[in-house]
Amino acid sequence: MFNTEVLEKHLATSWLGRSVYFFEELPSTNSYAKRIECDSSLHGALFLTDYQTGGRGQYDRTWNTNPGENLTFSLVFEPKKAERFTLLTLACALAVTEVINKYSGLRAMIKWPNDVLHNKKKLCGILTETQFTGNKLERIVVGIGLNVNQVEFPGELREVATSLRRESSKKYSREKLLVEILQNIEYRYRLWNQFNTDLVKQINHKMIGYGEWTNLLLNEEKLEGQYKFLGVNESGELVAVNRELDIKTFSYEQVRVQC
Ligand code: BTN
Repeated sequence: MFNTEVLEKHLATSWLGRSVYFFEELPSTNSYAKRIECDSSLHGALFLTDYQTGGRGQYDRTWNTNPGENLTFSLVFEPKKAERFTLLTLACALAVTEVINKYSGLRAMIKWPNDVLHNKKKLCGILTETQFTGNKLERIVVGIGLNVNQVEFPGELREVATSLRRESSKKYSREKLLVEILQNIEYRYRLWNQFNTDLVKQINHKMIGYGEWTNLLLNEEKLEGQYKFLGVNESGELVAVNRELDIKTFSYEQVRVQC
């Protein structure tokens, strides 16, 4: 069982993860964090479960994970505006990537717009959702699934998913990993909120395919011609140039990078 006392004892953040909502079992931390009604601010709240039974991913996919072995959690942010939330997702992906690499010695990389991969297999997926009342932004929920100690992946997942333990043959303390991740995300959130341009550079530095000729997929179909991936811009959109030197900008709904 995840030990929230260990988390609270080691956590050195000033606001992120200071309110912890832990559940032994929950359908989806993102759904819960979006739905929960609260009179006071939830900025920085952490929703965490040991067994997520109805985990959701991007593009209406599911996120299935063994109980008690991985990290499945959501963070609530209450910025004034929802714009640039793709960049916030990437800032969180950068934080997770840095912590993975520091602790495991692996060289995980970010796959635009919301995954962390190692050896072309997914270690971590992020689902960012917004909650509005009318046109007022209530909260941004960043849901993070990080495969930590799971060794066996069923069926089709075996081809596409992996864990820190599988990749590095080591077992990890989920509590200590989460402490480090929250600290790093708190720092990255500050940079995001300050429109810091170094944040964009640091994300691009860890991005799969950055500066390379790559295939882009539109609804699983390959886009005609090749694109040189120039990185992400200050909104988190993908910027690419084709062989005819047309510069194109794509949002996360439009394309995916083939790797
Ligand atoms: C993806 O790879 O498509 C994103 C997966 C996101 C999974 C996390 S686990 C915690 C949070 N709660 C959910 O239901 N989904 C996210």
